[in-house]
Amino acid sequence: MLRSVSLFFVISFVSVLSMADSSERAREIVTERCYLCHGAEGEASSAIYPRLAGQNAKYIAKQLSDFKQGLRKGTMNEMAADLAEEEMLALGEYFASKPPQAHRVRDKEFSAVGSYLYHNGNQFSGVAACKSCHGESGSGTEQLPRLAGQHKRYVVEQLQAFNNGARTNDHAIMHSIASKLTEFEMQALAQYISGME
Ligand code: HEC
Ligand code: HEC
Repeated sequence: MLRSVSLFFVISFVSVLSMADSSERAREIVTERCYLCHGAEGEASSAIYPRLAGQNAKYIAKQLSDFKQGLRKGTMNEMAADLAEEEMLALGEYFASKPPQAHRVRDKEFSAVGSYLYHNGNQFSGVAACKSCHGESGSGTEQLPRLAGQHKRYVVEQLQAFNNGARTNDHAIMHSIASKLTEFEMQALAQYISGME
């Protein structure tokens, strides 16, 4: 009895240690490379790069794995090439734990168009409401990306990439949605999404 109790403590101590190890490893990788573009807190102060703060851990890990395997193409292929699976998850958890920030919305009327589309879709062209998958507040789910607070430019670029087939790692869901969106709708959605908290 006594032996199994102490064994239990040894095992939990080891797993606490390895959790601390993996978050330490994630911090190391971020300060070596990721911070250059995404910021040490995932804040990505340059609008060219996506914000990762508050992004869902499993979604981040999946994207890193897709980049590593070449299923999603771009700058990130090289960055993810030597990451181990545990490191991808640790990086996901690192960024998921950082506080997300919303942008200030300048054009409120235009953003209202985006808000309408986000919550209701477009029944005339058959676009589904974004909230049905990305959530009422844009925070996504465990596996689905958070959109709230993302840079406008990145959102528009991704919608275009889904539309023209440059980004194909979503099993076609976003392709069918983006192919029905006009440029005006993409811009309005991006405006609204960037200001969501
Ligand atoms: C040289 C700049 C650069 C560096 C360094 C960099 N990234 Fe990226 N990252 C990008 C760009 C640009 C994108 C947008 C996708 C694309 O167009 O390639 C991106 C996209 C991502 C995405 C997908 C985000 C989403 O919402 O789908 C994740 C996750 C990510 N990067 C994680 C990382 C991690 C982790 C590191 C460090 C190991 C890192 N990045 C280093 C430029 C960079
Ligand atoms: C049926 C579910 C579904 C609906 C509805 C949906 N999405 Fe998505 N969306 C997804 C999935 C799944 C992904 C992640 C793809 C992947 O894993 O690579 C995604 C990814 C995205 C991304 C990329 C995020 C990133 O961080 O790179 C954007 C932008 C996006 N969706 C915008 C929208 C908008 C705008 C709408 C409404 C017009 C919408 N989505 C409706 C399922 C959906």
